[in-house]
Amino acid sequence: MFDHFECVKVELTDGIAWVRMNRPEKRNAMNPQLHDEMEEALTHLEVDPDAKVIVICGAGGNFSAGQDLKMFFRENEGNPLGRKTSQRAANRWRWELLYSYDKPTIAMVEGYCVGGAFMQLLATDFAIAAEDATFSLSEVNWGILPGALVSKVVADAVLPRHAMYYCCLGEAFDGHEAERIGMVNFAVPAAELEAKVEELAHKLMAKSPRVLRATKQAVRNVRTMDFGQSYDYLAEKGLAIRVGDQEDSYNTGLRQFLDEKAYKPTFEPFKTGTMIEKK
Ligand code: ACO
Repeated sequence: MFDHFECVKVELTDGIAWVRMNRPEKRNAMNPQLHDEMEEALTHLEVDPDAKVIVICGAGGNFSAGQDLKMFFRENEGNPLGRKTSQRAANRWRWELLYSYDKPTIAMVEGYCVGGAFMQLLATDFAIAAEDATFSLSEVNWGILPGALVSKVVADAVLPRHAMYYCCLGEAFDGHEAERIGMVNFAVPAAELEAKVEELAHKLMAKSPRVLRATKQAVRNVRTMDFGQSYDYLAEKGLAIRVGDQEDSYNTGLRQFLDEKAYKPTFEPFKTGTMIEKK
């Protein structure tokens, strides 16, 4: 299905879709074609039942060196239509698609993660970095702003002083620092990176996809709601996830915990296939 791609590589193994920005000779700098292919790949995978968790990563040991300064910027100068089309495609997959994606997403960061790559880094639900990865909001060094939504998503993700410091200085930082400031969930030795990502993906796959989707939407959406809106939204969302829950997870879980004493939800995911059929 993705054989015609040149700038993106998709591998689907054991429920995990590894979606790789694939221009290793250019450190996976993102050109317009890569943006189009990422959008196509993510749109297909969102409805592919074999893809349970999506990992956004890069080929050749790097995440991405940001927007392609030649093909995305320079070659679109004097071409307003090309520029607008490329920008829209870039923003669609890096933000609109990933931010509200139906399935859990993980960014796996190694090597360089620069400039525009912070959009997909921060749009994913989780991020794990190699300790020796190199992050840089380098825009200031190019005489441009952290544009599209980069300034916004960095300012939303970390404490104000960290956002100001790294956006204004463009100083490079490593995986440890990315973890310290909350840019990634955790940093691990490079040799363990893939295994840690797989471990997280398998934990996510053990959850009810319906509950997981609603939970991640809720965590994102309540950030911009007041308390009254949050109470109302969460109550309605809570009801909504029970509709069509074929496992009746809530009642089955209560029975197993309270009556059968067979389940400790603090430590284990809901056991699928354990509902008692109603006569
Ligand atoms: N755009 C276009 N081409 C790029 C980019 C980029 N963002 N990053 C790397 N490349 C190209 C280089 O031009 C080079 O091409 P060539 O082989 O045809 O000469 C190739 O990728 C390898 O790059 P090197 O610089 O030789 O690789 P090195 O490993 O020494 O350095 C690094 C990697 C640090 C990422 C460096 O290439 C760099 O600083 N790139 C710019 C990154 C950047 O600032 N990105 C933000 C752009 S602005 C934005 O995203 C909004």
